[in-house]
Amino acid sequence: MGFLEDMQETLDRGVSTARGAVSGVAVEQLGFVKSFVRTCHEGWLQGWHEANGGNMSYRMTESDVSAARTFFYDEPGSWVSAGIQAQCLAGARFLVTRAGGHFRTMQADPSRGVGIIEMDSTGSAWRVVWGFKDGGRPTSEIGSHLMAHAMRMAATGSIGCDHAAETANPAASVDRSAEVSPGKSAAAAGGARVIYHAHMPNLAALTLAGAFDSRSLTRLLWKTTTECVMAVPTGVGVVGTVVPGSPELARATSDLMKDHAAVLWARHGLIVAGETLDEAFGLAHSLEKAAGIYLAARAACGGQEPPCLLSDEELAAVIAGCGIPANEAYR
Ligand code: 13P
Ligand code: ZN
Repeated sequence: MGFLEDMQETLDRGVSTARGAVSGVAVEQLGFVKSFVRTCHEGWLQGWHEANGGNMSYRMTESDVSAARTFFYDEPGSWVSAGIQAQCLAGARFLVTRAGGHFRTMQADPSRGVGIIEMDSTGSAWRVVWGFKDGGRPTSEIGSHLMAHAMRMAATGSIGCDHAAETANPAASVDRSAEVSPGKSAAAAGGARVIYHAHMPNLAALTLAGAFDSRSLTRLLWKTTTECVMAVPTGVGVVGTVVPGSPELARATSDLMKDHAAVLWARHGLIVAGETLDEAFGLAHSLEKAAGIYLAARAACGGQEPPCLLSDEELAAVIAGCGIPANEAYR
């Protein structure tokens, strides 16, 4: 081997050693990953994530992708059908929580608790490109997350996103020979980037106490404080009891996400969409707090309806006076 070849080999080894040395921590140190993991931990501190309860996904920006890409696996996972065909998701990368992962312990080992998936060039399959150490996979609610992302991108990002549920079994592995497109449009598109699902005790308790539809639940929560309608002007869509992780739950959620940033899964939990982690967390927090205030007031009234909820007129005055773009269906 000549001098130049020797040098090249040494250089190559150096680069790959350097990459290997940092690849175990580098993605975890990126700002968007740290914020994501911190937000999950804040949900744990609120008491919303017993065991593996809850999940979150974040649609990465172009700069997130550039910063993380060096550390993507040389051999990504197999393609898995997303159970949806959504062109606006083509090439998108999502940071997602792990199926069965515990939010309580995520901070201690982020590359185990979260991972990055990329969509194929048709927006109908995903594969793991980073994280989920030791053979994990994205949340069992990935179908609901992806369909909600497509719907909220269209509702809030001024982009079209024709999408349809595929008939294929979402869990089945599929062969995708086409290479992934750069995914610039999906990364650059505005609108909601975060979908967050949590198991809130007060909201779940409310769905045990009475049979609510989207209108009755939204108006009840709006009437607990003058702030609730400001925090959640779209109101809350309500889905009945549906099997967790099922295509039916994904479809029902996506239908309601057309005009709601928050959807309550009765006797289960809440799923919300936000442009940022803070917005999504704030929506969830506001709704859970309103439910807690209502239940506390009801208990203080001996289990009867509290007499001093905002009246119809007071709610209308808040909406008009503060110029809130409240969902027309619930005014
Ligand atoms: P995962 O652990 O698969 O995310 O499931 C948790 C959950 O809350 C299901 O609704
Ligand atoms: Zn759940």
